[in-house]
Amino acid sequence: MNQKKDIRDQAYLSGDEVHTLNFVKDSDRYIFRKFYRSGLRSHIFEVLLAEDVLKETKGVITDGIRLFPRARPQKMFRILRNRFESISAVFGEIEKYNLMLTFLGSALIAESEEFIVDYTGTGTSQIVLCGLQEYINGEILDPWRLFGKDYLNDLFKSPHNTEFRHQTLVRKARKNIAKFVKRTRNMITDTGYIPDLAGIGNLIITREGDLKLVDINNIVEIKLDDSIHIDDKGYPSCDISVEVLSILERDILQKELPMDDPLYQIFLSPERKKKVKALEKEFYNHL
Ligand SMILES: Nc1ncnc2c1ncn2[C@@H]1O[C@H](COP(=O)(O)OP(=O)(O)OP(=O)(O)O)[C@@H](O)[C@H]1O
Ligand SMILES: [Mg+2]
Repeated sequence: MNQKKDIRDQAYLSGDEVHTLNFVKDSDRYIFRKFYRSGLRSHIFEVLLAEDVLKETKGVITDGIRLFPRARPQKMFRILRNRFESISAVFGEIEKYNLMLTFLGSALIAESEEFIVDYTGTGTSQIVLCGLQEYINGEILDPWRLFGKDYLNDLFKSPHNTEFRHQTLVRKARKNIAKFVKRTRNMITDTGYIPDLAGIGNLIITREGDLKLVDINNIVEIKLDDSIHIDDKGYPSCDISVEVLSILERDILQKELPMDDPLYQIFLSPERKKKVKALEKEFYNHL
């Protein structure tokens, strides 16, 4: 198979039609490959070195055994599915990323170089937002599947880690999650926005104990009242994001939640959570 053609064959930006990405230059060095995990809002590609893909497909002989090492992305290439009416609208979108970077800092998010392209694949000119983002290798932090009593302790258990290294990593990850919670709370207080923490795969923990938010184009407005906001996809992402924040605090950091805090008081009330669960169910029924 011609690997170079991969991005053309798979990157269709409208409906099921296949169009060439006029803004991606042909290169012998890099191969763009559709990433095996994907979200609702972006097309995601791995940017791989052609030589690594060759090793992956043809194999390399080590100690007389042919191995097929998986090519590791040099970068992630995202194409936002949103279509923008104007340049100012697209700049507004980039602002969301800048806001997140300002509040969370580069250590807690997968940094991205955002850029705007003129996509002509469908015959007309369309403004499309793309990003070249650092690739984060690690475990998805799935707040709905935290098995075991002490998530971090279990996560870093490995026959390759000494007890000292194990404890160091647990402490480091804990510190990073605490920092993430604190900075997210500051962002909520100062701006009235929360990063979208609802999507599975939005948060990744690396083997070195770093926590990274990879879904960097999404922030959700928080309203401290009884209304439950549904996003453009029909999902109660604001409520779920607040719930995820509370799970990080309560279940992972094992801290008591400050229930006199209006944020949790409003969003985590049992009646409201019941309504949110019903809305979530409706969303999944319509997928
Ligand atoms: N920089 C990255 N490094 C590693 N994995 C990534 C990176 N960016 C995205 N991913 C993975 O790709 C998948 C989709 O990413 P993401 O959630 O950002 O897409 P999206 O379409 O914007 O999401 P959503 O459906 O939540 O709106 C997730 O599983 C995520 O973990
Ligand atoms: Mg996501």
